[in-house]
Amino acid sequence: MTRKIIIDTDPGQDDAVAILLALASPELQVLGITAVAGNVPLPLTQVNARKICELAGRPDIPVFAGCDAPLMRPLVTAEHVHGKTGLDGPTLPEPTMPLQATHAVDFIIDTLRREPAGSVTLVPIGPLTNIAAALQRAPDIAGRVAEIVLMGGAYFEVGNITPAAEFNIFVDPEAAEIVFRAGIRLTVMPLDVTHKALTTEAHVRAFRDMGTPVGDAVAALVDFFERYDEAKYGHEGAPLHDPCTIAWLLAPDLFSGRFINVEIEVRSDLTRGMSVADWWGVTDRAPNALFIGDVDAAGFYALLADRIGRL
Ligand code: RIB
Ligand code: CA
Repeated sequence: MTRKIIIDTDPGQDDAVAILLALASPELQVLGITAVAGNVPLPLTQVNARKICELAGRPDIPVFAGCDAPLMRPLVTAEHVHGKTGLDGPTLPEPTMPLQATHAVDFIIDTLRREPAGSVTLVPIGPLTNIAAALQRAPDIAGRVAEIVLMGGAYFEVGNITPAAEFNIFVDPEAAEIVFRAGIRLTVMPLDVTHKALTTEAHVRAFRDMGTPVGDAVAALVDFFERYDEAKYGHEGAPLHDPCTIAWLLAPDLFSGRFINVEIEVRSDLTRGMSVADWWGVTDRAPNALFIGDVDAAGFYALLADRIGRL
């Protein structure tokens, strides 16, 4: 039985690998891809999402543009990590497939109302603005979402955009607060786990050795993407954040974590966007998220190589 998903994304090299992994996996039916402002502004993320679909040979996948700024704050982008296009590395042709006319938030609401309750999983891998906007506009959809599997947050790994906060949560903390308090089944892939899935020379070579346009593009995406983190952290490889969400859907046994309470800081300027994870159960706050802390990195990259190799 295939699992219906909507990927909400701000491509982003790691977003691209996540989307390719999903499109290469018959277990998943991608109902649509919704672009959000994040790594780069929305006009670029919606184009990048379409470039990735065409790279995968899937111009049939509907791509929607969503919110161009966080719910209540000015947009913060990450060109320093992803380059000015957001998809620096390979040279991908301008997309010819159309952008859907429907707003991403309307697509999310309409799809959740149309599909059987509990049959659609949301996979946000950028700031949570589109998801939160949909929940605000249509509270009835909260009970219809099967699960949210998101990349975001950090606890033991601490922040990457500030000392306290991970980028996706930092950009729109109010949106994250809405999502984490929605009472929806939630699986979180924080930096704690993504930093254990580092791209190594061998992993990148495996993509290049495929000798396919997709393999070459993924190698070029990762080559570009990892240079920033290698310089910052001083070790080989970079965390391949977003594909962890799709890999969870395909092979959850590769991961481990705890069902705990996670709250989002929205008031402090110093720690805004911090995901306060009660990993040790020191509060009486009710658990609301499966917070993933570990991954079998070899198994993760074997899955990636197997699936990407099919495109
Ligand atoms: O902090 C990592 C996250 O921020 C990833 O989703 C990356 O694509 C950026 O959006
Ligand atoms: Ca992303």
